[in-house]
Amino acid sequence: MRIDVLNGVNLDLLGRRDPARYGEGSLQDLETQVYAWARKLGVQARCRQTNHEGEYVEFLHAALDNADALIVNPGAWTHYSWAIRDALEPFSGPVVEVHLSDIDAREEWRRHSVLEGLTAGRVVGEGVDGYRRALELLAELGDA
Ligand code: DQA
Repeated sequence: MRIDVLNGVNLDLLGRRDPARYGEGSLQDLETQVYAWARKLGVQARCRQTNHEGEYVEFLHAALDNADALIVNPGAWTHYSWAIRDALEPFSGPVVEVHLSDIDAREEWRRHSVLEGLTAGRVVGEGVDGYRRALELLAELGDA
């Protein structure tokens, strides 16, 4: 199973951005962990990050042909980018939405996700471990 792990805007600042909320580790640390967890689970991960909405849309287009499943954390785009929702809609494999922080327990505007209804699962507020949970969910779906 090929899983694209797509991190969006400002996630490159992990470790420098509100570490109490998002953790001390860098994006590189996160990706290193994702690759190690994926190896253990017997799935193939590919991590990508961008601060450009159009590039994120292109990651989603590329996934149509190159990925079997997706883990997405679009950062703040989660809350307002209908372009990202539209780009995700044609993807037929399972998608898990991950947020490091508990977006349901923060500001009102973070409680809405444009991805609602398009995802097989959602993991929020578990920090980097949320990506492990998402990989496990997808690996289970792949075995089913
Ligand atoms: C985030 C939550 C978003 O509300 C925020 O804009 C982010 C990170 C998270 O992983 O907790 O950039 O997606």
